[in-house]
Amino acid sequence: MNSINEFIVHNEVDQSSVRPDARTAVRVEGLTKMYGGLAAVDGLTLEVPAGRMFGFLGPNGAGKSTTIGCLTGLVDPTRGRVELLGEHLNRDSIELKRRIGIMPEGLGLFDQLYAHEFLAFNARMMGLPEPTVRSRVEELLEVLELTDARRKRLAAFSTGMRKKVAFAAAIIHRPEILFLDEPFESIDPAGVAMLKEWLRQYVAGGHTVFMTSHVLETVERICDDVAIINGGRLVWRGEVGRLAVGGTITLNGEEFSTLEALFLYLVGERRGRLSWL
Ligand SMILES: Nc1ncnc2c1ncn2[C@@H]1O[C@H](COP(=O)(O)OP(=O)(O)OP(=O)(O)O)[C@@H](O)[C@H]1O
Ligand SMILES: [Mg+2]
Repeated sequence: MNSINEFIVHNEVDQSSVRPDARTAVRVEGLTKMYGGLAAVDGLTLEVPAGRMFGFLGPNGAGKSTTIGCLTGLVDPTRGRVELLGEHLNRDSIELKRRIGIMPEGLGLFDQLYAHEFLAFNARMMGLPEPTVRSRVEELLEVLELTDARRKRLAAFSTGMRKKVAFAAAIIHRPEILFLDEPFESIDPAGVAMLKEWLRQYVAGGHTVFMTSHVLETVERICDDVAIINGGRLVWRGEVGRLAVGGTITLNGEEFSTLEALFLYLVGERRGRLSWL
């Protein structure tokens, strides 16, 4: 059977078995995104319970950002079904989209705005009342040490400052699910430590984080569950919490004590050499 038929059969079965469940933050059934002849996401089926820190891993080009795009309404899936918080996500899901926060790969900043304008714009779009908009914008800028940047437009921000603004825009309305595409890349170590603490607190309150990262040591330490994809397909899904406390994961009779070792086993090590180096 070719893969397209597999998805059709899969979807027919799954459509009937879908039931709303608020304790499941993300449910994906047979998600596929085609770009011409390329399946960037290839029949992905996945569930993320609410209240978990979820790491979504895979090599460059595996389909992580495309999946996040499909899960947040930024990318139209070719096939498959996405449910967030027990509700089907489609183009008209305005209220549902207000319940999630997104830091996309490209950050999605409006370069001609000042940071406070951009954050206030996002907060208003998410329906926060005006006094809350103002107090949260001020608090975020202060805690992220961006108040001195008031006179600079976002176009003039440093890479890490831009990332912090995008993070702030994603959480300003305290969403129920936070989608973060490489949240820690480019942020200084003190900033990363603070964001990790915020995320722990956020998840402890019952909310859900769905994040991509290539920094496997960090994922190992902060994530409860991990999915690894390769070529748009799920290759592993499991709990990783025990690695942080010295435990191991067993797969095909092999034991892995780090997420990096497991990742390399599943995705394949590369040992390319440069002939001229
Ligand atoms: N708009 C697009 N048009 C055509 N192809 C695309 C588009 N967006 C992504 N792709 C392709 O889809 C595949 C998956 O890309 P994606 O950005 O989802 O990967 P990723 O896992 O996020 O990678 P990285 O770790 O490098 O961020 C790649 O082959 C990419 O070239
Ligand atoms: Mg990406």
